[in-house]
Amino acid sequence: MLIKVLGLLFLISGSLALEGYKILEISPNSEDESNVVEQLSETYDFLKLTRVEPSQVLVSPEEYQTLSGLLAKYNVNFKTINENVLADILTDATDNSKLCATSRLGTDCYRSHSEINNYIDELQRQYPNRVNVKKVGVSYEKRDLKTITITNGDGRANKKIIFVDAGMHAREWISPSVGLYVIQQLVENFSENKNLLQNFDWVVMPMINADGYEYTRADTKNRMWRKTRKPYNKCFGVDPNRNFDFKFGYAGTSAKECDDTFKGPNPFSEPETAVLRDVLKSYKGRISFYLTLHSHGAYLIYPWGYDKIDGPNKNELEDVSQAGYQAILKHSGRKYKVGNAAKLMYPAAGASDDYAYSEGARISITMELPSGGLRGFDPPPKDIKKYVEESWVGIVAMANKVVEKY
Ligand code: ARG
Ligand code: ZN
Repeated sequence: MLIKVLGLLFLISGSLALEGYKILEISPNSEDESNVVEQLSETYDFLKLTRVEPSQVLVSPEEYQTLSGLLAKYNVNFKTINENVLADILTDATDNSKLCATSRLGTDCYRSHSEINNYIDELQRQYPNRVNVKKVGVSYEKRDLKTITITNGDGRANKKIIFVDAGMHAREWISPSVGLYVIQQLVENFSENKNLLQNFDWVVMPMINADGYEYTRADTKNRMWRKTRKPYNKCFGVDPNRNFDFKFGYAGTSAKECDDTFKGPNPFSEPETAVLRDVLKSYKGRISFYLTLHSHGAYLIYPWGYDKIDGPNKNELEDVSQAGYQAILKHSGRKYKVGNAAKLMYPAAGASDDYAYSEGARISITMELPSGGLRGFDPPPKDIKKYVEESWVGIVAMANKVVEKY
């Protein structure tokens, strides 16, 4: 009995951590008000941060008090769009376990890090002449980090490369789902996609922040974790997308260990970002297209992201992104927003898109995948299929543009 009661208490306290959390939508109406939001983004946990439509911020009950006071003081419009974030998280968690239990390994539920690794290992066994899985490093908590290289099996070496990564931010679960779908399509649906593999090899790293991802899965109270998991004094983790060595520590980064955009003590302080750096360096000069998958928003954004400055081949970046935009519009009617990362969102330095671009990737794009509406952060598990299919349509269109021209 005592054990039962303790167990129940533990369960309740487990989810209590997100009790009363809400999502606010903030709609600044002037440049000054947007600047207020930019300031606030250093302290509060923005789920969506952009200058071209309302932003979204996750707040605890205490934060709600202080933030709503601040917003009122600066006259910035806001409203609550989700009164009970925890309710969605709990529903999704139950649905996800059900779906994972009944379906074969694929993208019909949110998968664990080890399931993802097992899936790509299995592909290597099944398609040894077209698939090569490499262990490229380990996370801080010693999880295996892997890449999968997909070719058409013709044995031609040193082809140009399309590089896709996912799972940089722990809670953006739709990102590795799309990464997996890309892998599945290129390998298991090869005949339909072989033009994408004629002169290009694809390298996919489906899970960068493995520790953070597993942490968000371990308990519903951790569901909104963003960073890695290496300890820094009283807090944990670094924002991996502020930890790359390009304009490290400039705008949109925090030096405070407990902040969600903590940049880390120095570039590549995290094993996960160091691994990605080394992988990218190993393909130096060959990467035509670097695509990094995040959520949420429905944005296709390109360098530079550290400041509102266009890259030298802005027209090419725009051209490829537009191809993705058009294809998705045609497929589902969804209108992605396309443009320079810093102009469309807010400047954020030390990100992987800028880093890959500075290291020579001709096209570098961050795809902010759409969420499942206002109810939470990721689409509910039953909708994953719809989202990964739509995203793939956009990725194919962008890749085709690259294959054709670059
Ligand atoms: N949501 C992404 C982040 O905050 C956007 C990164 C865009 N790229 C950039 N270089 N700012 O990490
Ligand atoms: Zn992200």
